[in-house]
Amino acid sequence: MLPIVIALSGASGVTLGIRLLEAIPQERECYAIATDGAHEVLRREKLHNVQWLRDDDIGAKVASGSFLCEAMAIVPCSMNTLGKIASGIADNLTTRAASVCLKERRKLLLAPREMPFSTLALEQMQRLSLYGVLIAPPVAAYYANVQNLEAMERFWVGKWLDLLQIPHNLYERWGG
Ligand SMILES: Cc1cc2nc3c(=O)[nH]c(=O)nc-3n(C[C@H](O)[C@H](O)[C@H](O)COP(=O)(O)O)c2cc1C
Repeated sequence: MLPIVIALSGASGVTLGIRLLEAIPQERECYAIATDGAHEVLRREKLHNVQWLRDDDIGAKVASGSFLCEAMAIVPCSMNTLGKIASGIADNLTTRAASVCLKERRKLLLAPREMPFSTLALEQMQRLSLYGVLIAPPVAAYYANVQNLEAMERFWVGKWLDLLQIPHNLYERWGG
């Protein structure tokens, strides 16, 4: 199976990116990037199957289309990173790897975190969605027996794993 790339940018809820990384199966090769905005929070975390890449290392392998990966997810995705990707700006490893996903027609998932969204951000999301990007913000669910924030986070991470086609058992599916 091909590797997965996960980037964390400087939006509130950067721990959600960590939860997603923790939920990637141990046997799956995984590369992670944290933008400067996300960096402070992450220094303490250690995950065995995850190789951390520096966001200013624009020459890292995920910056090349010749690096084969299954998908890239940016969780959480700041409006700054969203805007850069939607405008074709690739000035750090996160935005460069995302632009590679666009040009190679690979799966790209963004979890934008802002409230409310500006019209500009909504336009950028619409544009990216038309290019096939999955726009999957952490939106509350009320049908999955969610009793607390931890369960809500499991639901969001589970939904992102569904979109990345990674099996999990993190939330109760709607049974009709
Ligand atoms: C505590 C804190 C919380 C923030 N939360 C958000 C947020 O939820 N959404 C967002 O778009 N930006 C948020 N920002 C602003 C971004 O961090 C800022 O725009 C930064 O330039 C993003 O850089 P990056 O996209 O390279 O990570 C927050 C900043 C701080 C300091």
